[in-house]
Amino acid sequence: MMIIEPTGSACGAVVKGIDLNNQVSNSKMGKLVWALYEHRCLVIKNQKLTKESYYKFASEWGELIKHVLDYLRMPDYPEMMAIGNTEEKDKDDAVRNGAAVWHTDGSYIEDPTTVTMLYAVHVPKNGGETLVADMVAAYEDLDPYLKDELEKLTAKHYYGRAQFDPDEHRPVPIRTQQQATTNAVCEKPLVLTHPVAGHKALYAVAHSPFEINGKTKEETLSLLAKLKAHATQSKFIYSHRYEVGDILLFDNLSTMHRAKEQTDAAKTPDSDNARLLWRLSAKGIPNIIKNSSRSKNITT
Ligand SMILES: [Fe+2]
Repeated sequence: MMIIEPTGSACGAVVKGIDLNNQVSNSKMGKLVWALYEHRCLVIKNQKLTKESYYKFASEWGELIKHVLDYLRMPDYPEMMAIGNTEEKDKDDAVRNGAAVWHTDGSYIEDPTTVTMLYAVHVPKNGGETLVADMVAAYEDLDPYLKDELEKLTAKHYYGRAQFDPDEHRPVPIRTQQQATTNAVCEKPLVLTHPVAGHKALYAVAHSPFEINGKTKEETLSLLAKLKAHATQSKFIYSHRYEVGDILLFDNLSTMHRAKEQTDAAKTPDSDNARLLWRLSAKGIPNIIKNSSRSKNITT
């Protein structure tokens, strides 16, 4: 029997009693989708998946997308990425720690990335956590006057162009002109209404926003720094420490996330510190929602 229970932390729920090698029934898929929207992220425990079965499950959440940084893609499954320290590309600290910075997957793409999932294949004995910030709670906690102001604002986004804190790593680098031009500037609201669940969230106030329309450079930097500091307070954060077989799945429209920094020792992976997560991201809405009558009300 599938059981979904809150993590007991700032957000997130833990899912047990489901084997994703089997076809997930519509009833269970519906429960997973609405649990994700309610809790912002899910941890699905005890999976033993092939790339094929993982890909099949992920496809239920939307249209799987290829990362704009093409050198991160797996050759056999180009929508999938190997995250961690086990591959040749991960010897480069800029790649290995390229997610150790607050961000929202796909915030720099016109068509928003809605869901990301990370399946734990190898887990280090220490560290390796992913931190998830609840941007709905962060929005609701704002002063009402600021909420009103933010609702009228939009920001320009470009991959990695935001201002970063001194203790943060920088995003995985753009390496080719093609990658640079594939990343076009796009505009997003600062307060995003969820297209299915209807709740409002602060959206992508780190990593990619570099200009708030109608604000000066100084006003932009000041407001974004304030919002980022607000949204990343510990009271809004769930820190997930992986066990092998976990899938961490988060709603990018309601969260930001970051990896915990990996140390230099992680440059040489061994049985104690190897970390490998298979990452898949989707755009659009889950099939179960698309195929239901609720789709009539979706405005994206
Ligand atoms: Fe990410």
